[in-house]
Amino acid sequence: MTPQDPTTYTDLTQGKIKHIDFRIRADFSTCTLDIEATYQMQEPIRGSLYLDTFKLNIKDAHVNSQALAWEFDDNDEILGERLHLKDLDGAESFTLAFQTSPESRALQWIDASKTAGGKHPFLFSQCQSTHARSIFPCQDTPSVRFTYSAEVEVPKGLRAVMAAEQVEASEGSGKFIFKMPQPIPSYLFAIGVANLVFHEFGPRTGMYAEPEIIEAAAWEFAENEIKVTEAEKLLGPYMWGRYDLLVLPPSFPYGGMENPRLTFLTPTSILGTRGQTSLITHELAHAWTGNLITNASWQDFWLNEGWTTYAETRITEVLEGKDSHDLHDAYNEKGLITLMEHMGMDSPHTCLKLPGDEKDADSFATTVAYYKGCFFLKECEHAVGRERFDSFIQKYMKRFQFQSLTTEGFLEFLKEELPVVYEKVDVHKWIYEPGLPERKNRPQSRLYEEVEKTLSDYEQGKRPAREKVADWHRYQIMSFLQGLPKKIPVDDCKYFEDILELEKANDGAFFSSFYPICIISGYQEAMPGIEQFMGKVGRMLYVLPIMRAMIETDWSKGLARPLFERVRERHHQITIKAMDGLLKKAGL
Ligand code: BES
Ligand code: ZN
Repeated sequence: MTPQDPTTYTDLTQGKIKHIDFRIRADFSTCTLDIEATYQMQEPIRGSLYLDTFKLNIKDAHVNSQALAWEFDDNDEILGERLHLKDLDGAESFTLAFQTSPESRALQWIDASKTAGGKHPFLFSQCQSTHARSIFPCQDTPSVRFTYSAEVEVPKGLRAVMAAEQVEASEGSGKFIFKMPQPIPSYLFAIGVANLVFHEFGPRTGMYAEPEIIEAAAWEFAENEIKVTEAEKLLGPYMWGRYDLLVLPPSFPYGGMENPRLTFLTPTSILGTRGQTSLITHELAHAWTGNLITNASWQDFWLNEGWTTYAETRITEVLEGKDSHDLHDAYNEKGLITLMEHMGMDSPHTCLKLPGDEKDADSFATTVAYYKGCFFLKECEHAVGRERFDSFIQKYMKRFQFQSLTTEGFLEFLKEELPVVYEKVDVHKWIYEPGLPERKNRPQSRLYEEVEKTLSDYEQGKRPAREKVADWHRYQIMSFLQGLPKKIPVDDCKYFEDILELEKANDGAFFSSFYPICIISGYQEAMPGIEQFMGKVGRMLYVLPIMRAMIETDWSKGLARPLFERVRERHHQITIKAMDGLLKKAGL
C-alpha cells in the first residue's frame, strides 16, 4: 500500500490483522447480520488501531475479557466511519460484536418473491472494492491479508456458502462452518445464503444455484473442470482446492466476482449457447492474477484486471481457437478506444497506474485497466516470444504468491527477468502515460473485418440481409452493435432488432449496446422493454450505458429519474450508488 492510500483509514504502522474468527447469524426479518469476531494481529499493536467500518452498529468491544474503549472519530460518505480502538498498545487479539445495517453497501437481501424459485429469500455479498467494511470492521485495503474461520447460522432450510472451505454443513439445523486457510485481502471475503442445490462438474469443480435454474446452468458451464486444467497449464498449480460457482439473482452488479474457491456469477451469462463462458475463464484466471498476486492498492488495479484479461485471452485461444481470440481482441480494442475518447485521451484515468488522490475505488477503476493492461502484456510477450514469456509467467506466480504487489514491484521483477522487454517496449509510456500506445502485437481478425464491411455498407445506405448475419459469432453481433452510429432511423432500429433476433437471443450484452441506440434514435416504443431490463438486470456493464443514454437524450432525460425510482428497490446498493451518481451528476 502506498502510505496515503486514500480509499482506507488503515494505518499500517499500527500493525496488520492476521486472522479473524467469525460467528455470523443471518436475520432475514431485519436484513442484518449479527456478528462476533475475534481478531488476531501479526504482531503486538503499536498504540491504537484504526479500522474501516461502514454503517456498522458496534455493540461490544473487549480485549482479554476487559471492555475496550472505542469511538468513531472520523467519517466520510465514501470511506464510512473510522473505528478507533483505544488502549490496545501491546495487545495481539481483541473481540468485537456488531450488526450490519440493512443498507450495508456489500449486502443485498432479496425478497423470496424476487428469486428464481419465489419461495425463499436470497442474500449475497459483493465486497470489491471497499465494501467489506460494511460487513465487518477491517483494514479494508488489498495490502493486508488474513486467514479466517466462520460459524454461520441461517434460517432452517436455507444453505450458507462462503468463499472458503466448507468444514461442516447442516441444512436441517441451519449451521455451517467454514475456514479459509490461505490469506486473503478483505475484498475477497464473500457469503451467500439461499435455497441452493449443488451440482458437480468434476472432482474439483461444481456449482450452487437455486433448484429452478440448476439444470440450465449445469449445461452452460459443463466445461469448467477442463478450464481449471487448461488454466493450470498457463499459470501453474491451482492453489485454492475447489473451484465452484454460485449463480446469483440477476440483480448482481457484476458479470462475475472472483471470490476464492467460489466465483459469484450473474445468471445473465446463462444463454443456452455456452456463448459467454469466457466470463468464467476470466474469474477463474483471477485465482492466480488477483487472488494469489493481489494489487497492493486500487491504483495498481491493472495488475489484477490487465493480467487476468491477458490470461483469459490466452486460455480462450486454446479453448475456442484463434479466430475467436482475434475477434475478442478487435472488439476489446474498439471498446477501449471509444472509452478513452470519451474520458479524453489525455485523462490520467487512461494510465495503467492510476492517480492516487481519489477515495472511491469503484469509480476510478475502469475497463482501461483490463484492455490496456492486457495489450501491454501482449506487447511484452511479443518482445521476448511466447515461450520465454510463458516461463516468466510461471516464475512470477511462484515468486509473489499470496502477496500484494505494487506496479513498481512488478516492473522491477520484469526488468530483472526480461530486460529485453525494456529495450523493445516503451514500458514507461504504457504504464505512466495516458492514451493507447501503438501495438506491435495486434492480430488481424477476419471475422471482425466482415463486420466492419457490413457497417460501412450500412453507412453507404445498404442494410445487411438476414442471411448475412444469421450465423454470426456472438462477438460479431456485439461488434456490429458497438460499431453502429448512435443515431439511426427508427425504422432501422426495428429492422436490426428483427434480423439479429435480439429478443430471442435475450443476451444482455446485445441490449447494452442496442438500447442506447434506440434511445438516442428516438425509438420510443422500446421503452417498455428497456424498463423491464433495467428492473431486472443489475450488471453495471450492461445497465449504466443505457442510463447514460437516457440522461444524454432530450426526450428521455426527464424519464430517467422516475424510471430509476421505480426499479431502485430491486437493485444492489452498489448499482444504486452508481445509477444515482450518474443522475445526480446530470442534475436529475
Ligand atoms: N473483479 C471484477 C469485478 C469488479 C471490478 C468488482 C471492480 C468490483 C470492482 C471481475 O473479475 C470482473 O472483471 N467482472 C467483469 C466481467 C469480466 C469478464 C470483464 C464484469 O463484471 O463485468
Ligand atoms: Zn476481473
